Amino acid sequence: RRVSIVVVGSLNADLTIRARRLPTPGETVRGDRFTVSAGGKGANQAAAAALLGANVDLIGAIGSDAHGEMLTEVLQLVGVRTGHIIVRHDHPSGVALIAVDANGENQIVVHPGANAALASDDVVGVLTRTAPAVVGISLEVDVEVAAATARAAAESGATVVVNLSPFATPPEDLLGDQTVLVVNEREASQLIGTDISALPDGKVPPALRAAGAGRVVITRGSVGALVVENGLLTVVAAIPVNAVDTTGCGDAFFGALLWRLDAGDSLADATATANLVGAYAAEGHGTIGSYPTATELGRLNDRWAVPAH
Ligand code: RIB
Ligand code: NA
Repeated sequence: RRVSIVVVGSLNADLTIRARRLPTPGETVRGDRFTVSAGGKGANQAAAAALLGANVDLIGAIGSDAHGEMLTEVLQLVGVRTGHIIVRHDHPSGVALIAVDANGENQIVVHPGANAALASDDVVGVLTRTAPAVVGISLEVDVEVAAATARAAAESGATVVVNLSPFATPPEDLLGDQTVLVVNEREASQLIGTDISALPDGKVPPALRAAGAGRVVITRGSVGALVVENGLLTVVAAIPVNAVDTTGCGDAFFGALLWRLDAGDSLADATATANLVGAYAAEGHGTIGSYPTATELGRLNDRWAVPAH
């Protein structure tokens, strides 16, 4: 089958400790469980889409080390194509130190390692050759590489979906007229220089338009999501969950969005499904291990279906 989705982004080994509460600066807190698992925004997003049944290729970089091997293995296991992952002998694989508290809140410090060495040349040729329908980009890689990716993807006719996470001021070319921008409330606020959570919903589209963003999805965690398209606003309701770990829920959301956009859904419909997938991921520990397959997502739909009377 033709590759339909390409994700360009990071791969990290997630070193996670669970503790009752997060430490304050200078404090040591004892944790009760330690795991090493596959993560990084690019890897998580690609895995989320693949688990749901999408045909997805990940372009990124790892070191020639044990973490890199673990990452490749996990990605292959969930069905992501790994042939365009570059192995750098001069950099270690990316690492994320993650603390998660009893409410599922987290704190993350990332060392990019090989992710920061991914170059535009590693990406652009592949995009031109494979001409995917949808390209997903996040910012744990160099922003200029992200911009070059967006440019090449748009030129090849792909739908370009950009996750401005972790936040960086977007360079010119990262966001085109047709780009779908995906941000959480904090990133949206940083982008437009106004606290978006303080705006009434109706004021959000003009504020974003003034900042040059046309098609935007704003994720609001436990509050749901907002979709802005053609100056119109769609509110996607929250899904009630028992959050145990919200790490990578945004990535699950993003991967699912790519999957649905590739399937031809409207942005609003794709966002509604992505919202379910993000919620599902919050109920399990870790990132990829908590993401649903299409069958599991179906069961979730049943669970929240309102019985007809
Ligand atoms: O978005 C979640 C991811 O952010 C984690 O998997 C971790 O690697 C950090 O990059
Ligand atoms: Na999770």
